[in-house]
Amino acid sequence: MTEILYLNGDYVPPAEAKISVFDRGFMFGDGVYEVIPVYSGMLLRGRAHLARLQASLDELNIVNPLSIAQWMEIFTTLIAQHDALSDNVIYIQVTRGTMAQRDHGWLVELVPNVLVTCRTQTYAPQDMQTLGERAVTLTDTRWSNAHIKTTNLLPNTLLLQKARSMGANEAILIRDNYAIVGTQSNLFIVNDDIIITPPKSNHMLNGITREIVLDICQQNKIICREKDITEDELHEADEIWMCSSTREIVPMTTLNQHAVGKGKPGQMWLQMIQLYHEYKLKVMRAPAV
Ligand code: PDD
Repeated sequence: MTEILYLNGDYVPPAEAKISVFDRGFMFGDGVYEVIPVYSGMLLRGRAHLARLQASLDELNIVNPLSIAQWMEIFTTLIAQHDALSDNVIYIQVTRGTMAQRDHGWLVELVPNVLVTCRTQTYAPQDMQTLGERAVTLTDTRWSNAHIKTTNLLPNTLLLQKARSMGANEAILIRDNYAIVGTQSNLFIVNDDIIITPPKSNHMLNGITREIVLDICQQNKIICREKDITEDELHEADEIWMCSSTREIVPMTTLNQHAVGKGKPGQMWLQMIQLYHEYKLKVMRAPAV
């Protein structure tokens, strides 16, 4: 079966998907994106992702070119090309549009370019779950509007690549002695059985997975605080987790080459990942979230 994607109103195979080199996303990183997990054909919190897309577009003064119903129709069409039981991921990219004359400033009448793909995704590979992963701390070099999910990800990609060159899987970004976020994931720590995550701010992306973890804590009466985490608290944590739509909740078992807690995935993480999988199953049985 040939893969199809959605580009500016057309459903085409990737090889036929063409866009101008004067697209402002290509020239300036002037666009936003979303990544939505799809389990057995069901979107996980699709509407929350679309609400965040709207918020990112608003921040960049780009008018949302599609209604919720139109977005949903595209997702349904793209998901339909996959096996009903397969796990996939939807990627959305909306750029400000194509502008023939290169100029940092833009023309208000530009028409956004819209790309949507739905591709197979392997969530939470076994070794990541059982062994945990390695984190390092790096100085946060991102801009001060990190709450916007923009395609302009250069600091994130440079920092992740640096972490990888140090033998780690993710970098925890430090700003003014506080641990804020990963390069592509949100941060949780556990100290004395209390779960802590940094509060929402312009320095971090408000992850949908983070929201799910907070909801799970509330529903199960597990104590979780939204509170700043100092670098010292990070180093003393019993457990460190990083979470995102594509990686779910990953336990970090080393930080800067030192063991986190007992150096293996912790009990609180084990409880949380089980609750997270139960939550996913509920969504698959009763979509519409
Ligand atoms: N990134 N923070 C950053 C900087 C991220 O890039 C992401 C996810 C998250 C977690 O957000 P969510 O739980 O909504 O996925 C937090 C996606 C997966 C990506 O860039 O591919």
